[in-house]
Amino acid sequence: MDLIKRPRRLRINENMRRLVRETSVSVNDFIYPLFVVEGKGIKREITSMPGVYHFSLDLLLKELEEIRDLRIPGVLLFGVPETKDEKGSGAYNPDGIIQKALREMKKEFPDILAGADVCLCEYTSHGHCGLICDGDVLNDSSVELIAKAALSYAEAGADIIAPSDMMDGRIGAVRKILDENGFTNKTIMSYSAKYASSFYGPFREAALSKPSFGDRKSYQMDYANTTEALREVENDISEGADIIMVKPALSYLDVISRVSTRFDIPVAAYNVSGEYSMIKAASEKGWIDEKGAVFEVLTSIKRAGAKIIITYFAKQAAAWLNSQH
Ligand code: PBG
Repeated sequence: MDLIKRPRRLRINENMRRLVRETSVSVNDFIYPLFVVEGKGIKREITSMPGVYHFSLDLLLKELEEIRDLRIPGVLLFGVPETKDEKGSGAYNPDGIIQKALREMKKEFPDILAGADVCLCEYTSHGHCGLICDGDVLNDSSVELIAKAALSYAEAGADIIAPSDMMDGRIGAVRKILDENGFTNKTIMSYSAKYASSFYGPFREAALSKPSFGDRKSYQMDYANTTEALREVENDISEGADIIMVKPALSYLDVISRVSTRFDIPVAAYNVSGEYSMIKAASEKGWIDEKGAVFEVLTSIKRAGAKIIITYFAKQAAAWLNSQH
């Protein structure tokens, strides 16, 4: 054939491919989610998420040593409290599970970024992300409690405050309460475009946070919408978000792409529990190659425009990346 253009020239061998590669994944991009439980000596694998554990405080500190050694920049803490109530008071109790974890963590590992997921659903007896009145999830009074929780995490040492409740106006309320209390340097990473997704299933088992009635569709977004995501992001930026997030990642790469093209602040993507467990399950069955699938997925999230990836694969991927050199 008389071809001028032969795109295959640029794929001729691995060095050529490295040279022209447009996207790369680095350990610098990762945030590792961690689940903290009450008690001592507990490192218990979560059935729905092989390779992910519930940690009591003492063993959480051991895990953080590994995270430091792998050079993962930050973690995102989720609390699994022993008791729950209607008002989710464990979320804003100064001696709550996450507050204790943050204090211990910052004492031993001041340099690892401590992110705190801010939501009520792990702490409410009904499993919703806010207060309930007549079967509805209230907005404004829930925001007050979300802001209170955010402040208590900041006081306990959190570096990154990450509201995941999807109530209206919570970013402004969180920024205000942080600033009024002298925490002007605490970063807000907002779960801005968080969709009502079936891919949170394994997480809800891990965090025991499945709603006891109804669903989250009156606050989390409809997966059919993208321009709505742009409005959510715009609101959160104007209310003071430093980093915005799209969640989940894989069925929402178009949203990541539109958001990152339109706004010039760092975009995070949450590669959620269901996305993790699908790969784990398929690779356990020998149906896909795990390492290949993990890097393909992580690279696709970067290619779409995210800078930060919150992923349960962070440790494994960091170890693989480190062993390449
Ligand atoms: C709390 C929260 C959830 C996740 C992160 N923060 C669960 C939910 O909204 O039901 C999901 C994370 C995952 O699936 O990995 N609101």
